[in-house]
Amino acid sequence: MINNPTYSEKENLYQNALLQIEGLIESEKDQTAGLANVSAVLKNTFHWWWVGFYLVKNNELVLGPFQGPVACTRIAHGKGVCGTSWAQNQSIVVEDVHAFPGHIACSAESNSEIVIPIRKNGTVVAVLDADSEHFSCFDETDRLFLEKICATLENLF
Ligand code: SME
Repeated sequence: MINNPTYSEKENLYQNALLQIEGLIESEKDQTAGLANVSAVLKNTFHWWWVGFYLVKNNELVLGPFQGPVACTRIAHGKGVCGTSWAQNQSIVVEDVHAFPGHIACSAESNSEIVIPIRKNGTVVAVLDADSEHFSCFDETDRLFLEKICATLENLF
């Protein structure tokens, strides 16, 4: 499947990333080690501005393993793109973060964003957040593959 020529370049990159991530998660059950390496795989594959995790702790999101510049450390339930994804228990693709009500600007360089919930038995336990300096960087292909990746991370929680 990986070399199937009908697959787009992005889909090929995701197929490779997914295989790599499945291998990493299978061989290491420690949550920090696993999430750190997943953020590294995604950063090195797609070169986004920022990619990482916020973990649900005491009813707020707390910064977890990530790749990229310094980020805000705590996000309240329902706040920003991350807190909204958590509250709504659904993925959010934002083409222009400046047009998203309540967007939390950790970096002035970020122009588009995608946030995917990670669930344990249906309850959101963390979110994956990726930011790009380009507008409209993320689309349905990103959402579908990042949801697959996040589904494999349930075992770390
Ligand atoms: N922009 C996010 C905050 C996290 S940083 O982008 C890393 C938000 O609005 O929730």
